[in-house]
Amino acid sequence: MNIKIKKIILKKKNKTKIVCLTAYSKSIAKILDKHVDIVLVGDSMANVLYGQKNTHKINIENIIQHTLSVKQSIKKSLLVVDMPKGTYKNINYALKNARNIIKKTKCDAVKLENFQNNYKIIKELVKNKIPVMGHIGFTPQFKKKFKIQGTSKKELLKLISDAKLIEKAGAFSIVLECLSINSARIITNQLKIPTIGIGSSKYCDGQILVTDDMLGLSGFYPKFVKKYVNLERIIEKAVKKYTRDVKKNKFPTISYF
Ligand code: KIV
Repeated sequence: MNIKIKKIILKKKNKTKIVCLTAYSKSIAKILDKHVDIVLVGDSMANVLYGQKNTHKINIENIIQHTLSVKQSIKKSLLVVDMPKGTYKNINYALKNARNIIKKTKCDAVKLENFQNNYKIIKELVKNKIPVMGHIGFTPQFKKKFKIQGTSKKELLKLISDAKLIEKAGAFSIVLECLSINSARIITNQLKIPTIGIGSSKYCDGQILVTDDMLGLSGFYPKFVKKYVNLERIIEKAVKKYTRDVKKNKFPTISYF
């Protein structure tokens, strides 16, 4: 097993939190890599970078292109890449696409959103030595309307069952997106593999956020996002200064030659 993956799994045993963020470019990845355990090239790039209303149009070329950029800065963290919607419709297609992503980008693992019985696809990928991160709860590739997941007993039991099937299929960890506090706590307690929460309370083994959201750059700030800085404001200030300088002929001065 990949040593970086072993270390991630060990963190659950040692009760050390797993820190994850998304990256789509080399410059952001360079900063993240020094601090986080996992960098995810998420299909959230659809919303964040391409201004699309959902993640459905991101294709394998988009994912590979951005991962190649991110990979240039990855030295110590685990690099996980989202498989875009439609790229894991059946076992053979999933295997072909996952192999393609790994071969071209040299990433460490792929992530698949849970849908129907696709834990069987995870099982096949793992059998073929492709490390997989699962993803349950609010899965944007398959669910249209946002809702906290696992609020009823029936939903909770389904989430527990899905999480256990994904673990049994061989996934090394699992993202819990927008689960009720209770569901996140129960699933985290019942699984041996680490859970990575987003909008799913502190009762997860690790946390992930979309980097542009926590930097205050995406314009998308649901309740579960803590904005650590308002980069939009900071960048705007700099752009305004530059504009003023150019207009007043204050830039470039002789010192910039
Ligand atoms: O695409 C993404 O960024 C994700 C995270 C939100 C988990 O899947």
